[in-house]
Amino acid sequence: MSSIEQQLQPRRQRLDNYLQGCLTALPFADSHLAAVMRYGLLLGGKRIRPLLLYLVGDLFALPVALLDAPAAAVECLHAYSLLHDDLPAMDNSPLRRGQPTAHVQFGEAQAILAGDALQTLAFLLLTQATPALLTPATQLRMLQELAQTSSGLCYGQSLDLQADNQPLDTTALAQIHHYKTALLIRCAIRLAALAAKRPGEESLPLLDRYAQALGLAFQLQDDLLDVTGTTAQLGKPPGSDQRCGKSSYLQLGIDATQERLRQLHHEAFAALSLLPYDTTALEAFTHYLINRND
Ligand code: IPE
Ligand code: IPE
Ligand code: MG
Ligand code: MG
Ligand code: MG
Repeated sequence: MSSIEQQLQPRRQRLDNYLQGCLTALPFADSHLAAVMRYGLLLGGKRIRPLLLYLVGDLFALPVALLDAPAAAVECLHAYSLLHDDLPAMDNSPLRRGQPTAHVQFGEAQAILAGDALQTLAFLLLTQATPALLTPATQLRMLQELAQTSSGLCYGQSLDLQADNQPLDTTALAQIHHYKTALLIRCAIRLAALAAKRPGEESLPLLDRYAQALGLAFQLQDDLLDVTGTTAQLGKPPGSDQRCGKSSYLQLGIDATQERLRQLHHEAFAALSLLPYDTTALEAFTHYLINRND
C-alpha cells in the first residue's frame, strides 16, 4: 500500500462506517433489497471519489462532518452505476471487486432495483447534509450538480454502448470518457468546493481543469489495465473490453494510450500547481490514481 493510501485509511474507514449507517437507516434495512444494495456498495472498491471529495474539502479546511454526506452520495451514485454497468444488457460482466457481480449473485431484477435505490439514496443523502453547516441554497446547488452528473453519466453509458464494435477517434473517445467517468469525478470535487463558503473565485475553474484531466486519465488507466492487468489485481476479468468490442482507448494502441496518459497527468498537476492552497496530499493521491494497478 502506498503511503498516501495508508494516510487515507482512516478517511476510508470513516466513509465506510457512514455508508453502513446509511443502509442501516433505510426503512427496509432488513430486506433482501437492502442486502443487494449492501453487496453493491460495501464489498470492496477503492472509494476514490469520496476520498477526492475529502481531500478537496481539506484544501478549504472544511470540517470533515460536513463532507460525509456528499462523499457518501457520490459513492452511492458510483455503486449504482457499476451495478447497472455490469448487467447483461450492458457490459455483461461476471466479476466485480473479486466477487460474482450482483446480477449473478441475486438475479438481474434485484440488481437493477438495488441500483435504482442507491441512485435515489444519493440524492436523499444530500438533502440530509448537516443543515446547520450548509444553507438551503448551497444544498440546492449541490443537488443540481449531482442530478446533472447522474443524467450525464447515463448519456456517457449510452454513447459507450452505441460505440460497441465501432472504430472511434480520440474526439469520440474523449466525449464518452467525459460523460461516463470524468463527470462523477468532477462532481465529487465540485461538491466539496460548493460546501466551502468562500473558495477563491479563481480556484473553481482550476479545480474543474484538474478534475477533467484526472477523470479522463482514470478511464484511460482503466482501459489500459483491462489489457495489462490480472484478475487478482483488478477483481474483474481482464481482456473483457476487447472480447466484447467495448469502446476503449486501447483501440488506438498502447503507446498512444500511454502518451495521452502522460499528457493528462501533466495537465492535472499543472492545474493543481496553480491553486493557492497546499495541494501536497492531492498531488500524492493523483500520482497514485494515475499509476495504480488495481
Ligand atoms: C470503475 O471505477 C469504473 C470506472 C469509471 C473506470 P473504480 O475503478 O473506481 O471502481 P471501484 O469502486 O474501485 O471498484
Ligand atoms: C465504467 O466504465 C463507467 C461507468 C460509468 C460505470 P467500464 O465499463 O470500463 O468500467 P468497468 O471496467 O466495468 O469497471
Ligand atoms: Mg461499461
Ligand atoms: Mg464495465
Ligand atoms: Mg473498464
